[in-house]
Amino acid sequence: MPEPYGRRVLLGVTGGIAAYKAALLARLLSDAGMDVTAVLTASATRFVGSDTFSALTGHRAHVSLWNTPGEIIHVRLAHQTDVAVVAPCTANMVAKLALGLADDLLTSTLLEYDGPLVLAPAMHSGMWGADVTQANVTTLSSRGVRFVGPVDGPLAHGDTGPGRMSEPAEIADVVFAALRPRDLDGARVLVTAGPTHEPIDPVRFIGNRSSGKMGLAIAREATARGAAVTLVLGPTTIAPPPAMEVVHVETADEMRSAVIDRFAAADVVVMAAAVADFRPKAPHESKMKKEAGIPDLMLEPTPDILAELGERRRAGQFLVGFAAETDDVEEAGRAKLRSKHLDALVANTVGRDGTGFGSETNQATILVADGRDVPMRAWSKAELASAVCDLVARFTGPR
Ligand code: C5P
Repeated sequence: MPEPYGRRVLLGVTGGIAAYKAALLARLLSDAGMDVTAVLTASATRFVGSDTFSALTGHRAHVSLWNTPGEIIHVRLAHQTDVAVVAPCTANMVAKLALGLADDLLTSTLLEYDGPLVLAPAMHSGMWGADVTQANVTTLSSRGVRFVGPVDGPLAHGDTGPGRMSEPAEIADVVFAALRPRDLDGARVLVTAGPTHEPIDPVRFIGNRSSGKMGLAIAREATARGAAVTLVLGPTTIAPPPAMEVVHVETADEMRSAVIDRFAAADVVVMAAAVADFRPKAPHESKMKKEAGIPDLMLEPTPDILAELGERRRAGQFLVGFAAETDDVEEAGRAKLRSKHLDALVANTVGRDGTGFGSETNQATILVADGRDVPMRAWSKAELASAVCDLVARFTGPR
């Protein structure tokens, strides 16, 4: 399945105590669908083993220019990379990159490579604040190198101050963004994701199989493309990325309040949440006893949040809905697009393998009010998120 952006990441690891956190970064990037190859400097291997990275990424991690006879390894690696990140990046590596030194595999590879480069510095406060380091950072920034961190916090030697490496999730977000256009810069995007839980009693609820992955992929993609994203997230085990405002909700009512409160300030709303359609009419205040027999559960409809947004919308807002259908996907989707006054609706097939709830892929069509529909096909969730953001960018226009 073709991916919309490159996904080959070169992860450089240099010799600082934060090198152990680079293993978590490798994991996060791999989990986000990136194809990661690690290159460690000799001093990095004093802190963490190359086998750790081989195991986490599924690719041999490299340490030396000389271990692959018959192959010019730094040239191959440089040419097979869409984005490079060095985490942790020591003061020494910052200096070498500023000067263009090429005295080991990592520096040689990065000198040959000419794509986006992200550096996550990690060093003691004095080293970071040193004039020479700051001058090197300015030089590299002026060449388009992106820095993430360092932040204030505990350092080696029991000290505290600026110089601590940013958290892996934050670095992963910057790597993700480095591969994307900034075509949603400044757009205010409200995304809902996950299921809702409607209480039967204090311990039981009516829910659904939504994992939240689709909405999260959209929130992540929009953030990477420059949007200011607010994510209204139902109960799910997935951790949202750090670079967005997250409002946690449980029920359809809570989701409605969170969305309505923020609607006026949003340019775009993407309702990817699988909001429960029905809820118990009179949830019990205490746990229902098994011995009392099988209860009669009286249900009532939940508020249709998206339909309400469709009624309240103002000119200049863009509304996207999702519809999960088992039958007549396109027909039912088109009816929803019209009845809820939406600009676009992603109609996806559920109830089959490889599509819908919890799956990594979706069989979906994007129905668009202006008639420029995207036909039914199989998508990875990242790819579908990118297509939805393409539509949004078309609407919000050049920025
Ligand atoms: O009508 P249906 O539930 O299939 O519509 C799905 C779309 O409507 C999704 O975008 C979902 O987030 C939204 N929805 C809603 N409030 C509900 C039910 C669904 O906003 N109570």
